[in-house]
Amino acid sequence: MPETINPLRYPGAKRSLVNYIDALLDANHLQGCTFFEPYAGSAVVGLELLQRGHIGGLVLCEKDILLYAFWECVFRDTDALCNKIQDTPITIETWQQQNQYREVVSLDQADLLDLAFAGLFFNRTNFSGILKANPIGGINQTSRYGIDCRFNKAKIIEIILRLSAYRDVIEVNCNDALQFMRTQNARFLRQNCFAYFDPPYYEKGSEIYRHYYTNQDHIALAHYVRDVHRLDWIISYDDAPFICGLYSNTGAQYQPFFLDYTCASKVRTQGQELLISNLPLPPFPARIVESC
Ligand SMILES: C[S@@+](CC[C@H](N)C(=O)[O-])C[C@H]1O[C@@H](n2cnc3c(N)ncnc32)[C@H](O)[C@@H]1O
Repeated sequence: MPETINPLRYPGAKRSLVNYIDALLDANHLQGCTFFEPYAGSAVVGLELLQRGHIGGLVLCEKDILLYAFWECVFRDTDALCNKIQDTPITIETWQQQNQYREVVSLDQADLLDLAFAGLFFNRTNFSGILKANPIGGINQTSRYGIDCRFNKAKIIEIILRLSAYRDVIEVNCNDALQFMRTQNARFLRQNCFAYFDPPYYEKGSEIYRHYYTNQDHIALAHYVRDVHRLDWIISYDDAPFICGLYSNTGAQYQPFFLDYTCASKVRTQGQELLISNLPLPPFPARIVESC
């Protein structure tokens, strides 16, 4: 697997899908397309494909304003973000100060750069990169793992600077995924477009993300991809009967794959996940170990 250049740790990150989706684009003459990631998170797939030069542009959408602000500042306020990373001590006192930004619910309530830093800070100092979790080492910092053990400033800044070179071909949006996608139909007519949907997990979404899906939201995504025109797409999901039921009889293709997650706790969990697409899906090659 190639080295991933991404400044975020992300629970459920799908780095292991990069080669598979890359090959899918190739087989369907979609290389050079505009690639949509409407549930961006760490946008690991799109950013890697962009760095390989296999897609022409990347369109991100993320509802969590801390993550949105982070990506927006990576590409539009790079130097200020890097300076803030360089100058801010990675301590439990900073964690307490940053907590005010977890309460922010709209972009006009705080400075974008402050939100961006808070997004990165919680991602890299909390358990398993979960924004709503507690810090590594606990509030009292009694563990042998300190709050800064996943915060290598020099490496993070280096990655941000490298990614920022792609600013002209990346667009970042703060919105609900489906609301945003419904505004993009004209673009699907004009350009070769492909969407990778990685919605919040069906089973554990509410434990991991600050925004997660109800059954009704999962149904809305299934209806969206059933009805959308001129867009090829793939969805990754946890393999739950409810989700399978939504896509059976739609003509969509299924392909199971396995992820083994090894998180900060060193506890390895394993799950069968599912790929669903309107394109023919080849078998998934091998078992993957993913580190978050
Ligand atoms: C499974 S994660 C995506 C992980 C991503 N593929 C990666 O590479 O890290 C789902 C993401 O969707 C975001 N999200 C949740 N509800 C959303 C919504 N209604 N619209 C857009 N994004 C949403 C979450 O904040 C989370 O970042």
